[in-house]
Amino acid sequence: MISKRLQDAFNEQINKELYSEYLYLSMAAYFDSISLPGCANFMKVQVQEERFHAMKMYDFLNERGGRVELEAIKKPQVEFNSPLEVFELSYKHEQFVSKSINELMDIAISENDHAAKSFLNWFVDEQVEEEDSMDSIVNKLKLIGGKGHGLLMIDNELGARVFNPPVKE
Ligand code: FEO
Repeated sequence: MISKRLQDAFNEQINKELYSEYLYLSMAAYFDSISLPGCANFMKVQVQEERFHAMKMYDFLNERGGRVELEAIKKPQVEFNSPLEVFELSYKHEQFVSKSINELMDIAISENDHAAKSFLNWFVDEQVEEEDSMDSIVNKLKLIGGKGHGLLMIDNELGARVFNPPVKE
């Protein structure tokens, strides 16, 4: 059975994953509003990723005899100045999530909960990809100056992203 301290920390992380889902949906809405459907598609796939992360923790908490407790999700940012700003914010947000996963891992270690540590390893690895995916788009956007024909090419590329749920281990 999971400790109360770890249960509370998992519930906080579930809230952060659901907020991430909401934030990326808000970014998708921004891209739809400025007619960049590929960037919107990328964010809608990211929305599915974040829901997957939240549900993975939800299932783990239940399997460990814990209780899922949902809190309010704060309102995400609505307006953005440019596609580059959106991806820079996304990169920053993923760095924040990585830090939060690391803190959760620290609690699992201090509680000597080996099952939670093993479970969280997946998230530690996943965050490397999450940060890298946002950072590489930031770099591409900087390379093309964030506008014009280059932006349309990146939009086209991001339109091809599909959600592939990882196989449940
Ligand atoms: Fe759930 Fe993007 O980290």
